[in-house]
Parts: sequence; structure tokens; C-alpha cells
Amino acid sequence: MKKLLLAILIGGALMANTAKARTLVAYFTLTGNTEKAAKIIAEETNADLYQIELVTPYPSEYKEQTELAKKELSEGTLPAIKPWPENIGEYDVVFVGSPVWWGTMATPVRTFLASGVLKGKTVIPFVTHGGGGADNSFADTAKLCEGCNVITDGWSNYGSITMGVGRWAKKSLEEATK
Ligand SMILES: Cc1cc2nc3c(=O)[nH]c(=O)nc-3n(C[C@H](O)[C@H](O)[C@H](O)COP(=O)(O)O)c2cc1C
Repeated sequence: MKKLLLAILIGGALMANTAKARTLVAYFTLTGNTEKAAKIIAEETNADLYQIELVTPYPSEYKEQTELAKKELSEGTLPAIKPWPENIGEYDVVFVGSPVWWGTMATPVRTFLASGVLKGKTVIPFVTHGGGGADNSFADTAKLCEGCNVITDGWSNYGSITMGVGRWAKKSLEEATK
């Protein structure tokens, strides 16, 4: 009984701690995989969700998507994205989710990371991929997000597999805010 009470007390303290840091989950998705992980992270960490959207939507054909992404990456083009939430300054921790494109963060996510809006915040990246793993995604997040505290121990998985993402998100947030 004593042990149970102690467990409840510790659990409550951990939850209170998690709730203290204002947390946002920002993500971009083309086919829903990254969105699926983002929604779980938001639920598990009591965070708000923000979908990064392009001003000019990407083509719907896979071949055209890969060609355009390749061109943007090689030319260093940052495609315009729709405005982020007005209250973004209030968040301490921002999980940033992306599909892996050519071994790195998708170009709309690069626009967000390079914008400077995350300066001074803790940024925790996560990605979904098609078999190539996270590759350079986390290291590139740290390079792009100047003045951010980027946790490079991000989460990645294949396609729509979300196994372990909730546990990882809670642990990362606890560590980032202790
Ligand atoms: C333009 C483009 C480039 C991609 N490049 C890679 C890659 O380099 N490595 C990889 O494993 N998967 C690659 N993929 C596959 C996606 O990362 C994967 O399908 C991802 O889960 C899609 O996430 P989404 O449904 O949130 O868009 C690429 C997909 C696209 C559209």
C-alpha cells in the first residue's frame, strides 16, 4: 500500500514537471506518416500541435516530389511556408517532425528551422523514413537551427511505424526540462 502511494506521488510529480514546460509539436507531412507520430507525441506530452504547411503545395506524384526536393536541396531553396502560430514565443520546447528527404529534413521543415523563430528554445527532432534511417536529419537540424538547444538524440522509424515514440517523447521532455 505504501509503495502504491509512493508510486502515485512520484507519478504526479513527474506529470506536474512535464506540464510546466510549454511544449509544441511542429511537423510536416506529405503522406501522413510523420503526422501519425506527431499526434502521439502531442498526446503523450500534453503539447499543442502545429502542422507546417507550404504556401505552394508539393506535386502529388512521387517522382516529381523527389525531383523538386533534390533541386531545392542542391540549390539551398527554402520554400515559403504558411505562418506559424502567433503565440510560438510562449513555447519552451518544440518537437520538430519531418519525413526524411534525400537523407535530411524535408525542405519545408528546413524553412521553419532556419527562420530564427526557435532561437533560445529546446528543439527535439523526430523523423519517419523509407528505409534509409534518420541519416543526417538530426545533425542538420542542429546546423540549421542557430541559437537553439537541439537534442540530437532524436526518434526515427520506418513509414507509419510509431512503436516507442510516446515513451521516447516523454523521456526526452523530462530530460530536457529537469
Ligand atoms: C522527396 C522525397 C524524398 C525521400 N527521401 C528519402 C530518403 O532519403 N531516405 C528514406 O529513407 N526515405 C526517403 N523518402 C521516404 C519518406 O521519408 C517516407 O516515406 C516518410 O515516412 C514519409 O513521411 P510523410 O508520410 O510524413 O510524408 C523520401 C520521400 C520523398 C517524398
